Amino acid sequence: MATIYHTPVLLEYILENLLSSGHSLVVDATLGEGGHSEAFLRQGKTVIAFERDGVLLQKTKARLASYIEEAKLYIIHGNFVDLEQHLADILAGLGKTRVDFFLFDLGISKYHYFESGNGFSFNKDEPLLMTLDAPGSQRNAQQIINESSQEKLAQIFSEFGEETHALRYATAILKQRRSMPFRSSKQLAECLWQAAPRYARHKRIHPATKTFQALRITVNQELTCIEPALLASAKRLSLGGRLCVISYHSLEDRIVKKTFKQHVRKNENYNKYAKQQPTENQNTRIYSLVNKKTVKPSHAECLSNKAARSAKLRTLQHNSAAILSESAIKTHQTPYKHSI
Ligand SMILES: C[S@@+](CC[C@H](N)C(=O)[O-])C[C@H]1O[C@@H](n2cnc3c(N)ncnc32)[C@H](O)[C@@H]1O
Repeated sequence: MATIYHTPVLLEYILENLLSSGHSLVVDATLGEGGHSEAFLRQGKTVIAFERDGVLLQKTKARLASYIEEAKLYIIHGNFVDLEQHLADILAGLGKTRVDFFLFDLGISKYHYFESGNGFSFNKDEPLLMTLDAPGSQRNAQQIINESSQEKLAQIFSEFGEETHALRYATAILKQRRSMPFRSSKQLAECLWQAAPRYARHKRIHPATKTFQALRITVNQELTCIEPALLASAKRLSLGGRLCVISYHSLEDRIVKKTFKQHVRKNENYNKYAKQQPTENQNTRIYSLVNKKTVKPSHAECLSNKAARSAKLRTLQHNSAAILSESAIKTHQTPYKHSI
């Protein structure tokens, strides 16, 4: 039997506090090893799941095959940025237009560090790729490290890793690659270790941690996918539906917070005593935040699952009386009165 590495984060909290019996159709935008999806399926939900990594997808598909046969699980190989395009067809097949529950569990899975062989871990000696999509379809980490200018590398490390020694590390990389271009994750980790100030080598996290994160985010353009996918998901939410996002660093969380805030602001234009429901163009969809602050895993969960330590959960709920029709979802124009 295949080994499962990933423990789903905040699972108990989600099942007990956010997913209700009325939520029957769930979209798991980040299937990974399928921990969250499996729990939703066990609760009798129908799940539509997305996964960008084709190799991991095959592994999870094999494990959850019985649910696929029962037509309870639909797995899509793709980027959640294209969610609306895929959802439209599947929902039509299910005779639905709305989704009750979305989960985005951002980032990568433990599988990527332990099994993918793609150079995500600075503790392993693997080809320096860090790609989630099919080989050759993306500029990989090795190409970025060996071909980018010093300024560009420093900018990547600073912007996507919030690394304070960005320029120092970029300088060390340029010096080393002149004599020996980078091929493996271990080579890069050692170069960063040597370049790190002495005090940084004795910290809780390895000096290469933030640089590896920055490279992975750059290779997979991770941050640019989030906002469009959340906007499309919010539009698809059923009345009482919820959109949950678990993020693992401040760059992700900032995007989630900002996108949710835009939605909640729309409430100001809604007047429940108005004779006519306003139109979508008048910002009619009513959303609220389920928790004002982010929800974080308990101390016990962090002790048993290290990956949970930096997790933050935000949830948006759809409460509107006016929901767009199917055609309006596509055109973003025609208003429609919902009849649930
Ligand atoms: C944190 S893991 C999810 C773990 C999962 N919830 C579980 O319980 O096993 C995130 C997963 O999302 C995938 N992923 C990341 N960005 C994606 C994107 N833009 N579209 C689809 N999948 C993505 C990654 O390949 C990874 O497998």
